[in-house]
Amino acid sequence: MSRDLITGGLGYVGSNLAKRLLDNGEEVVIFDIWPSSKSIESFKSDVQVIQGHLGNMAEVLNAVQANDIDCIYHLGAMITMPAEANPWSAYNTNANGTYHILEAARLFNVESVIFPSGIVNYGREAPEVITDDTFQSNPSQMYAVTKIFGERLGEYYHHKFGVNFRCVRFPAICGPGRREGLAAYASLMVHETAKGRPCQLPIDEKTQMPFLYIKDAVRCLTSLMNADEGNLSRRVYNIDGFSVPAKEMADTVLKYIPDARIEFLADQNMVKLANDMPNKMDATKAREDWGWETEYDWDKVVQDFIAEVKAHPDFYK
Ligand SMILES: NC(=O)c1ccc[n+]([C@@H]2O[C@H](COP(=O)([O-])OP(=O)(O)OC[C@H]3O[C@@H](n4cnc5c(N)ncnc54)[C@H](O)[C@@H]3O)[C@@H](O)[C@H]2O)c1
Repeated sequence: MSRDLITGGLGYVGSNLAKRLLDNGEEVVIFDIWPSSKSIESFKSDVQVIQGHLGNMAEVLNAVQANDIDCIYHLGAMITMPAEANPWSAYNTNANGTYHILEAARLFNVESVIFPSGIVNYGREAPEVITDDTFQSNPSQMYAVTKIFGERLGEYYHHKFGVNFRCVRFPAICGPGRREGLAAYASLMVHETAKGRPCQLPIDEKTQMPFLYIKDAVRCLTSLMNADEGNLSRRVYNIDGFSVPAKEMADTVLKYIPDARIEFLADQNMVKLANDMPNKMDATKAREDWGWETEYDWDKVVQDFIAEVKAHPDFYK
């Protein structure tokens, strides 16, 4: 049995990952800036939560050493909007935090460090399809600056010190419970209508960006963790998902919720931000090296999402 540390384990991806690791019979320790959260309500007695700040090196080193950690899923971060609101704090959490995690892994011989980077790293000049080697040019946000830094620092710790750093670049993640940020429109159009509420989206019908369902995202992280080292030709892998215009996404929701009321009320700032995102991620290397396959296309997402919301009405309000 492996003892896993999830930084940011109270967050959206982290709490879903914690649940999956527990289901797989692993021991889970969460390191987060908060003491607890509703996100782990159903399994909080099965995990240990350490309250700490990623920017505080001693707290990070102590959490790893004192708990005899085998593997670190380093998910803790200040993401897009909070990072832009306070870039200094985002630098400390994201850049220094990743440095502290890699030092902990080096000093205490942690078996592997899994790190999620993302599509946000690609600026306006990026091509429509992002390959593993597409240049990550001119990031306009502190969040992206620190994600690119994390990728490069992880590669350095791998070649210099042999730290088993492995990284994925995710598209935007959607699923039940995801309600904030630019990419939340995909989740909101299912969530709100499954709850019988009307849904107004701040984007237009042509808006399109790549998404990955939360269940695929957590499976992706554990698959990369379990991949044979001998098969890995690189440390950082692009992950694909699906990419469908918003109108087609809404039509799929209507197929399963015929009385759904979805309205496009475009906010031109949001539309512009969405249009600046690349349309597609190419995950050829992840497929070749460790057998990555997206399981959920949008049609399958909608069906599973509706079932989840209906199965847990008090959790998904
Ligand atoms: N959600 C996406 O679409 C997406 C896409 C690509 C990559 N990622 C990456 O996946 C990871 C998780 O994303 P998420 O969507 O779950 O975000 P989230 O905001 O829901 O979770 C982040 C967690 O980090 C914690 N945290 C923040 N500052 C901290 C600090 N100083 N010390 C300790 N903990 C701190 C927060 O409390 C939160 O629980 C992030 O690293 C993010 O960059 C997410």
